[in-house]
Amino acid sequence: MLLSKVSINEGSFFHIYNGLSSLEQLMKKSSKWMLIFSLVSLFMLASWGGAGEKTSKAKLLHFGNMGGLLPTLKQSDLPDHESEAAELIFKLCGQCHNSPGPGLHTVKEWETVFWRMYWRMHMMNAQFDHFMVPTFGEGELMFMYLKQNAMRPATLNKVDMEQPGAKEYVTYCSQCHQLPDPQMHTKGEWPKVTARMAKHMGSMAKNLADQATLTTINGYLQANAR
Ligand code: HEC
Ligand code: HEC
Repeated sequence: MLLSKVSINEGSFFHIYNGLSSLEQLMKKSSKWMLIFSLVSLFMLASWGGAGEKTSKAKLLHFGNMGGLLPTLKQSDLPDHESEAAELIFKLCGQCHNSPGPGLHTVKEWETVFWRMYWRMHMMNAQFDHFMVPTFGEGELMFMYLKQNAMRPATLNKVDMEQPGAKEYVTYCSQCHQLPDPQMHTKGEWPKVTARMAKHMGSMAKNLADQATLTTINGYLQANAR
């Protein structure tokens, strides 16, 4: 039923055909480069994962399913990054997808998301060799850490939409998580946080805020900061 509603007109068909044939030409012309590219990609895939061939298979499988669901972070981007909990989050949670960062969810949300992931790791253990699974104690430690550093949401109906930047803040800052409370950070801290968020917008394929919009949002956050 749905399919019959989709009609490809001649123009768009021609467009697809043209696209394919120029891709074919490109591949012929640059077959040497394609070979080099493939070898480099293979090498990168083989060295991905770190904990052995089977683990990178887990990551490949999930990447295919999840795309840019989660951001690209380094362990040093995590709060209290040298703690045992941060290390566990970075290593264990990074086995199937990128590590999330505790600020992505509120305490309430982590209560469901965390345990879904915890039991998934125990399930997955049987399917992949070299897969790292947390003990219950390590699970509790990670859970505490996520909750302690969780997102603190703003109350939307308390946002004064007349203030400069309020509209942009509501539009752009609730695309991936709850709208953050401006009181989470000081005036000085906000620009660093929003610059990291701008990177996530690119890597997680969301609506990108340009520099002027980011400046406007920073203005709103700083006016209402801690
Ligand atoms: C065994 C593979 C695997 C491991 C290890 C894993 N995840 Fe996931 N994760 C998934 C899959 C599959 C999805 C997408 C489906 C879903 O949301 O349940 C997902 C999605 C997510 C999401 C996005 C969806 C949402 O509800 O926000 C977050 C956040 C997340 N995982 C956090 C974590 C954390 C934290 C850990 C470590 C405690 C972790 N994951 C470990 C497989 C895994
Ligand atoms: C493309 C998705 C995305 C968008 C859009 C986004 N964020 Fe985030 N945000 C994340 C992710 C992922 C995390 C957790 C990882 C991290 O902290 O970098 C996070 C965490 C946070 C945190 C908690 C961590 C900390 O440093 O305090 C705050 C606050 C935050 N975001 C504010 C914002 C603001 C303000 C905006 C709007 C300019 C915004 N976010 C837009 C993805 C996004």
